[in-house]
Amino acid sequence: MASVMLRILLLLVTLPLSAKAQTNGNLTLGSSLTADEQNSSWLSPSGEFTFGFRKMGQGAHLLAIWFEKIEDKTIVWSANGDNLAPEGSKIQLSTDSRLVLADPNGRELWSPNLTAAGVAHAAMLDTGNFVLVSQNYVHLWETFSQPTDTMLPTQQFDQGTKVNARYSKMNYSTGRFHFKLENDGNLAFYATSDPWLASDTYWASNTKDSGFRLIFNQTGQVYLTARNGTLLKPVTSNTVPTNEFYQRAILEYDGVFRQYVHPKGENSSSALALGWSMVSSPIPPNICESIRQTTGSGACGFNSYCALGDDQRPQCHCPPGYTPLDSTNEMNGCRQDFLPQSCDGSRPETDQFALHEMLRTNWPLNDYERTAAQTEDRCREACSADCFCAVAIFGGNGSCYKKKIPLSNGRTDPSEVGKALIKVRIKNSTSKSTGDGNKNSTLIIIGSVLLSSFVFVNLLLLLITYLIYRSFRSKDSKLSRPVQINQATGMQTFTYQELQKATDEFKEELGRGAFGIVYKGVLGSEDTNFVAVKVLATRTGESEKEFEREVSAIGRTDHKNLVQLLGYCNEGQHRLLVYEFMSNGTLADFLFGASRPSWYRRTEIACDVARGLSYLHQDCTRHIIHCDIKPQNILLDGSLTAKISDLGLAKLLMANQTRTNTGVRGTRGYLAPEWFRNMPISSKVDVYSFGILLVELICCRKNYKPEAEIEAQIVLVDWTYDCYHDGSVLKLVESDEEASSDIKRVRRFVMTALWCIQEDPTLRPTMKEITQMLEGAVEVPVPPAPSSFMSSI
Ligand SMILES: *[C@@H]1O[C@H](CO)[C@@H](O)[C@H](O)[C@H]1NC(C)=O
Ligand SMILES: *[C@@H]1O[C@H](CO)[C@@H](O)[C@H](O)[C@H]1NC(C)=O
Ligand SMILES: *[C@@H]1O[C@H](CO)[C@@H](O)[C@H](O)[C@H]1NC(C)=O
Ligand SMILES: *[C@@H]1O[C@H](CO)[C@@H](O)[C@H](O)[C@H]1NC(C)=O
Ligand SMILES: *[C@@H]1O[C@H](CO)[C@@H](O)[C@H](O)[C@H]1NC(C)=O
Ligand SMILES: *[C@@H]1O[C@H](CO)[C@@H](O)[C@H](O)[C@H]1NC(C)=O
Ligand SMILES: *[C@@H]1O[C@H](CO)[C@@H](O)[C@H](O)[C@H]1NC(C)=O
Ligand SMILES: *[C@@H]1O[C@H](CO)[C@@H](O)[C@H](O)[C@H]1NC(C)=O
Ligand SMILES: *[C@@H]1O[C@H](CO)[C@@H](O)[C@H](O)[C@H]1NC(C)=O
Repeated sequence: MASVMLRILLLLVTLPLSAKAQTNGNLTLGSSLTADEQNSSWLSPSGEFTFGFRKMGQGAHLLAIWFEKIEDKTIVWSANGDNLAPEGSKIQLSTDSRLVLADPNGRELWSPNLTAAGVAHAAMLDTGNFVLVSQNYVHLWETFSQPTDTMLPTQQFDQGTKVNARYSKMNYSTGRFHFKLENDGNLAFYATSDPWLASDTYWASNTKDSGFRLIFNQTGQVYLTARNGTLLKPVTSNTVPTNEFYQRAILEYDGVFRQYVHPKGENSSSALALGWSMVSSPIPPNICESIRQTTGSGACGFNSYCALGDDQRPQCHCPPGYTPLDSTNEMNGCRQDFLPQSCDGSRPETDQFALHEMLRTNWPLNDYERTAAQTEDRCREACSADCFCAVAIFGGNGSCYKKKIPLSNGRTDPSEVGKALIKVRIKNSTSKSTGDGNKNSTLIIIGSVLLSSFVFVNLLLLLITYLIYRSFRSKDSKLSRPVQINQATGMQTFTYQELQKATDEFKEELGRGAFGIVYKGVLGSEDTNFVAVKVLATRTGESEKEFEREVSAIGRTDHKNLVQLLGYCNEGQHRLLVYEFMSNGTLADFLFGASRPSWYRRTEIACDVARGLSYLHQDCTRHIIHCDIKPQNILLDGSLTAKISDLGLAKLLMANQTRTNTGVRGTRGYLAPEWFRNMPISSKVDVYSFGILLVELICCRKNYKPEAEIEAQIVLVDWTYDCYHDGSVLKLVESDEEASSDIKRVRRFVMTALWCIQEDPTLRPTMKEITQMLEGAVEVPVPPAPSSFMSSI
């Protein structure tokens, strides 16, 4: 919290001080910038792009171009990532017509390679292109044709152009991932800079002999053209317009090419809420599975393995018994934490090692031996007895592959059929039983894999919310249900100390969400009076009074389909909310977990959520837009009644959200299109999100499922519309007997959902109307095609 405030303070303090040279016109020969505390720089005429120095650490400066009007000043080009400039270095457009970056002693650090002499001036253009121009206005050199890792609208790459990912998120040195528009026209992605491995691509456009140019055009599309200028192949599928959004496409340090948009204009609510959002699918969709090189480490470094997180980003992990080589960069691989097995035949050490099981994990292409083991036991024995064997992969049909150190290309994915048996030295002090250790350690492994994943955190977050308010009502209040509390008289307040005690010093963390961490607590002396205490992560700018007004407005909402806020603490810098406990966890768990809930239960949940939202939008004293309806925010109580959680927090806290974790939401998420369009946000954004939730409830799967075998089924709402349009709604619930036999209702729900996800917010019904549609109280009219997703395919 302190650091956020500090940053804001710093921003306020430094902004007016920085000396920005508005170039407007052109930089004449002799112009220069110095890398010092003055932050001098050259701005484009519109002020949207800046060319100048960025401080990368003590006395280390990066010559770069960045988006000036965006809070994090996103860098789009850099000159000297591999060779940072010391304090006092200078970039100068010298009188002899060269652009030179030199250190304080005049030693040249970087200079562009000009094809012709005669630079007359330089200019930072509004497109983000920095150009060196001749007397006759010919661009002798431009950053657009010497890209680093980013492509901007209007930028074009000719054959031979290479784009290099940076080394890590904050280190602008050249990393190992790159792509190149090859001279033969193929756009090819490589995980190594070794030219000998030119056939080892992890993604390619397959446009050999036809591809000519890669274009990021004015309307925000990235595509390849043929030599005659016709569109050959789209690379991304963005439909967000460039006039209202900043855009960039970048080969990120994890080797994935992603396109992002950021709302322009400091006032728009979407600018505050979203930051950079990903549009279009990443390339490749799953890098963990894409790299198939016979040499090199794969996506994550040697001895590690890669898993796609819930946010569709690759995450690198070390297997049990291994630790990261570099704690600051998870992509650098792992090392063994134990002495390897001795290969001295006189002391085989077989009993010193155990094989830990890792499901759906593999290090393909590294086998040194295959044995026909038939059974897992035989496979285990074969690896244990072999001092070279670091891991054995037991395949589905009796195969057993032995692999040696270093392991490469590790991945874990639902599509992997094999089971990895990884060899780990048993601690010398507890080396009695080898068998026992296995089960426990497997649990730990799975646990730690899960723990580090975003999904699990979300899961946990909602798993426990329990509240018993015993103290401030009559004695029988313990037995009464939370919904019967009359909150009209106000809310209970707690001191920080009380909540500290209730949570045993914030000991048991239940989960983390966008707004803070949730802890389990107990109120009063009864051990069963559980509460969920949410510690708000950021302190908002509003005053004490405003916070309390806001919280009491939330607290006054009283409906059986809303998670009840029971009290709060507002003391100094501490702001905490106390909620009722929900014993059956999140809808996300319930719906996407191992056992599918019944169709009846799903229809009940849909109606519950609709009623809760309808109340929020229309019935309660202050109309509230939730802004974040998704299965993770719907909780289920002991009798599986669905309740909406986190209401009001979006409004209360959105203004202070940082923009880092919001990229997740952009892709095929629950967000209505108006978030991306600078349009006014109304309660219809919740209707849209509810529509997505409804199709997920109908089909019992996530809206976005990149691993779907049939391409048309990757985005559920698209498929749903296709099925509805073809009159084959039954297909959506094919394997669900109960739903199949209730097809009239399935159809009604589908039609309702299609109304909810209309691109035009005014076409979407109100939540009240939706409640009636779901209940069958009104006839659902024939929904039109929700054009937004049709055009974004
Ligand atoms: C220059 O920018 C750095 C951080 O980017 C900041 O710490 C420093 O105060 C700024 N200096 C001036 C004079 O604006
Ligand atoms: C700057 O250079 C551009 C060409 O690069 C030219 O069109 C423009 O007139 C020049 N502006 C000034 C103020 O010299
Ligand atoms: C400059 O570019 C030319 C032609 O592209 C190339 O042959 C030469 O090696 C380059 N020089 C440097 C120092 O990069
Ligand atoms: C970036 O990474 C490279 C390669 O590991 C390293 O040599 C360099 O010091 C790093 N730069 C910074 C600023 O940390
Ligand atoms: C950009 O490309 C898309 C797809 O080819 C096309 O529909 C659009 O008209 C293009 N925009 C411009 C300004 O050329
Ligand atoms: C342009 O080139 C592409 C591929 O080379 C070809 O398929 C297409 O027919 C050509 N179009 C025209 C108008 O020449
Ligand atoms: C932003 O807000 C300020 C003051 O609230 C207003 O003067 C300005 O016109 C607004 N800008 C936009 C782009 O809406
Ligand atoms: C397993 O069996 C399937 C067919 O039964 C076969 O296609 C596959 O190659 C086998 N896998 C291995 C590793 O032998
Ligand atoms: C276990 O190993 C450590 C270091 O490998 C060693 O210091 C220790 O003495 C060993 N303990 C036993 C009981 O052998």
